[in-house]
Amino acid sequence: MLDGFGRKIDYLRISVTDRCNFRCQYCMSENMTFMPKSELLTLEEITLIAERFIGHGVRKIRLTGGEPLVRRDMSDVIQRLGRKVNSGELEELTLTTNGSLLSEYADHLAAHHVRRINVSMDTLDPDKFSEITRGASVDQVLAGIAAAKEAGIKVKINMVALRGFNQQSLMPMAEYCATQGHDLTVIETMPLGDVGADRKLEHIPAEEFIAPLSDKYELRSIAHKSAGPARYMSVEPLGLRLGLITPLSNNFCDNCNRLRLTTDGKIFMCLGHNAHVDLRAAVRNEGIEAVDRLLQKALKLKPLRHEFNAQLDGSAEILERHMNVTGG
Ligand code: GTP
Ligand code: 5AD
Ligand code: SF4
Repeated sequence: MLDGFGRKIDYLRISVTDRCNFRCQYCMSENMTFMPKSELLTLEEITLIAERFIGHGVRKIRLTGGEPLVRRDMSDVIQRLGRKVNSGELEELTLTTNGSLLSEYADHLAAHHVRRINVSMDTLDPDKFSEITRGASVDQVLAGIAAAKEAGIKVKINMVALRGFNQQSLMPMAEYCATQGHDLTVIETMPLGDVGADRKLEHIPAEEFIAPLSDKYELRSIAHKSAGPARYMSVEPLGLRLGLITPLSNNFCDNCNRLRLTTDGKIFMCLGHNAHVDLRAAVRNEGIEAVDRLLQKALKLKPLRHEFNAQLDGSAEILERHMNVTGG
């Protein structure tokens, strides 16, 4: 698949639910309304659509949410898509999760060809963790991460950089990740949806956020790549692989390779735009072949880049859609 700007699209992110058992402050407002269950694709429909996309050249699938593991019967989806990894049709099946249910799911994921996962954790400090998630327990997440490691799954920790909140948390996080053999990615917070916070005050460029590391360690760029937009460096002699995701300070849209399927059946063409096609009604009325036609239409709609910088400085309107709808 090629989009209108000649970019090769081979990475599909599927948000299997917009619900979550956490309420991270930069992601959701305190009182979120979720999609009515009647509007959601069934898990069977999600799997059929994903399989159709694989037929069109998708090689990497990431399940996201909300929290993907809160949706009931996720085991079946993982098993079915895992078979595509086993057969070589998919290079990678993976998840972005808050980690809280990993103790329950880790063995199942490992058994069905999930080799690595990304876990969101913005601080190791129990009180700060509870504050940013509005009530969750960091110990439960740490136990989930340990279960994933025990099952042989490689873990990357996602840490959203928030000025004035978790700058002090970086050093302990880097040291924990290095000791445990996890990768760490620092992510600039993106202005999506009204969360009742001042995004501009919270924003800190990833380079500035990680600066304290270079007082103590040597940071070297490395060629490592993952499916997403992070660029990587090694932190020595700590032995940490550190990724930076810099949508605001260093745009990476030229290399964009992805599409997003939401749980109500829309294909969003960019995290930062409203451009989308609606698969749900078409698939229900015309059958799964409708995906082929709508996908061609969608590729032409894909914008060149997001407008997060203009949204942050107030010169463009912030999208109403919260991060939990598209899953990041
Ligand atoms: P891998 O590179 O495969 O490890 O994953 P990833 O970084 O693509 O996925 P993950 O779900 O861990 O996302 C990490 C952060 O990157 C989240 O905050 C996402 O919102 C952000 N992100 C992922 N893809 C894009 C993108 O296309 N555009 C922007 N602006 N942000 C993205
Ligand atoms: N900006 C940047 N990252 C975000 N995430 C959630 N909301 C935002 C935001 N507004 C992160 C989560 C998760 C990933 C999918 O996106 O922490 O790791
Ligand atoms: Fe692609 Fe949009 Fe993300 Fe840029 S912001 S990398 S165009 S999805």
